[in-house]
Amino acid sequence: MRQKIVAGNWKMNKNAEETEDLLNELIDKLPADVEAQFVVAPTFVNLASAVQHLEFTNIAVAAQNMHQAENGAFTGEISADMLKSIGVETVILGHSERRSYFGETDDIIAKKTDAALKHDMTVIFCFGEELQDRKDNNHFNVVETQLRDGLFHIEDKNWERIILAYEPVWAIGTGETASPDQAQEMHAFIRETVEKKFGSEIAENVSILYGGSVKPDNAKEIFSKPDVDGGLIGGAALKADDFAAIASAI
Ligand code: PGA
Repeated sequence: MRQKIVAGNWKMNKNAEETEDLLNELIDKLPADVEAQFVVAPTFVNLASAVQHLEFTNIAVAAQNMHQAENGAFTGEISADMLKSIGVETVILGHSERRSYFGETDDIIAKKTDAALKHDMTVIFCFGEELQDRKDNNHFNVVETQLRDGLFHIEDKNWERIILAYEPVWAIGTGETASPDQAQEMHAFIRETVEKKFGSEIAENVSILYGGSVKPDNAKEIFSKPDVDGGLIGGAALKADDFAAIASAI
């Protein structure tokens, strides 16, 4: 079911104590009267404590990544089953930093998506074009390919556990945001692309988040667009006041 979502991707930030402090602040500061799902994604080592900490709150915990295999000789990796076993039900997959720094291809992301869905997890599926793609006027093609190759093999019934996150790479951590109109234009294209393949009911029901330098001062305008259902927030998710202000803007 389409819903408003504000998710914080903490990336490689916050040790155990800092995680606890930020969670406590978020519990205090996140708006209680807003009809939206809030999500935080701390690092792997702090997920278990975050789940415990946030029990009985309306803040869900997501992992930032996972491996596609069930288990085995994959030194340093974490499986869906491990995440589920500590109460993590959501995972961010395909983030542009995973794609560019860790060589994740659409094919790998497709396999990770399958593994997460097999374990009944919710996937925040990230994708988005690079600056050169936009300069070349190739951004719609790139986005369509990422969707098709990473996600379009899934069964209809699994769409209820998919959240899309459009994150233009040129806007991530750069202070540069897509304009609200650019975000709306791409989100509408994404919904239309989903509709062509899976039909209008699935397309209407999928939540599409925008990510890339969302801040308290631009969140409201971006979130006001009809096809923008919320945000995936990086830098501003590390400060409780900023994240709470963005959450209130939904
Ligand atoms: P940013 O990151 O808000 O710091 O640009 C967004 C993201 O990477 O999800």
